[in-house]
Amino acid sequence: MSPTERLDQEHAHIQRLLAALERLVRRLHDEDPPLDGLEEALGLLRGFADAAHHGKEERHLFPALGVAGLSNEVGPVAVMLLEHDAGRRELDDIAEALGALRAGVPEGAGRLARAASRYAALMRDHIDKEDQVLFPMARELLPRGVAAALAGEYARVDEEALGPGGYARALARLDALVAAAGGPAAPRARGPDGSRPS
Ligand SMILES: [Fe+2]
Repeated sequence: MSPTERLDQEHAHIQRLLAALERLVRRLHDEDPPLDGLEEALGLLRGFADAAHHGKEERHLFPALGVAGLSNEVGPVAVMLLEHDAGRRELDDIAEALGALRAGVPEGAGRLARAASRYAALMRDHIDKEDQVLFPMARELLPRGVAAALAGEYARVDEEALGPGGYARALARLDALVAAAGGPAAPRARGPDGSRPS
């Protein structure tokens, strides 16, 4: 397995989650706005996208790249870290706006829509940079043995972030949310650990 294979798969799931978030936001002015769906999207963005996915990058991929000579202080890794932090601030804003909406504050809808739009744009640009620049560098720089070690570390991050078996549960929740939001079904069946047959 390459050092970025699991992360590449997660990018595809996060892209589907972002599209679901945007579809749910478009229904904010419905008679019965999908506040529970938005809460679920927020939970998955925090748990799956941030704690589990960004956690793997911050705790293992980026340090491994540092050992291989790529600075974490300047350059592409530093930019990725800043964008992870910016994303967390947008998620806090989405949470506050959702809380305001639930409390009956009408301005919450506009605030939520703006924060979700900023977050989706930030994350899509961020994923593009990783896919186009950082991950190809990682595949070039990291020796095969490091890639194998990373796979084990990634599994530990998933368990810490999402609980035992939580990765597969999070993907099942993500699929259900995407379907409920009117998005495409998962492209292929997955194994019990959330992996797809190759
Ligand atoms: Fe990423």
